[in-house]
Amino acid sequence: MIKIIHSDITTLPVDAIVNAANERMLGGGGVDGAIHRAAGPDLYKACLTVPEVRPGVRCPTGEARITPGYRLPARWVIHTVGPVWRGGTHGEPEKLAACYRNSLALAAEHACRSVAFPCISTGVYGYPLEPAARIAIREAREFLAHTEAQRHGEREMEVVICCFSERDFNVYNTLLTQEVSHDY
Ligand code: APR
Repeated sequence: MIKIIHSDITTLPVDAIVNAANERMLGGGGVDGAIHRAAGPDLYKACLTVPEVRPGVRCPTGEARITPGYRLPARWVIHTVGPVWRGGTHGEPEKLAACYRNSLALAAEHACRSVAFPCISTGVYGYPLEPAARIAIREAREFLAHTEAQRHGEREMEVVICCFSERDFNVYNTLLTQEVSHDY
């Protein structure tokens, strides 16, 4: 099922929280900074061991990497890199959708029963909130519908979208209650 909550993602006792990282994957501001602060220095060390796919890039935009959560209540941190918003005609929607798909796939591979996402790319990276929210909800729905088809009696994964601000919470909640989801 999909849940929208208004909270600080670093406090959530879920199996995995998703970090809105950058391609260097060595920390930053926003939720990235909050997660690294809460997880402690071992998270930085774990990120250093993630191989670079090219100089300065450990996680290309749209992909996801997983590390332990260390001091966080969450067992895992799934680092994903959202697109920087450049007007919407540079593949941003597809890259953002890939962040959710790849993070959910990694969570499933690690037998997570619950995963929490921040509002990826809607902060420093400037992605407009509503289009980003529609993509998040659509990708979560498609993932759950697909695993629903494959499920053999286990409990369905819980997908939490953790909004840091009241404003974000209201936008996501409104969209979730609207059955019709537009294509972006
Ligand atoms: N819990 C949940 N959400 C949070 C938290 C928190 N503790 N702190 C911030 N957020 C929210 C922001 O309010 C925003 O809605 O996370 C969302 C994503 O914003 P950013 O953290 O700015 O991430 P993003 O827009 O994807 O930009 C990524 O910012 O911090 C750097 O290293 C990061 O370079 C990368 C870039």
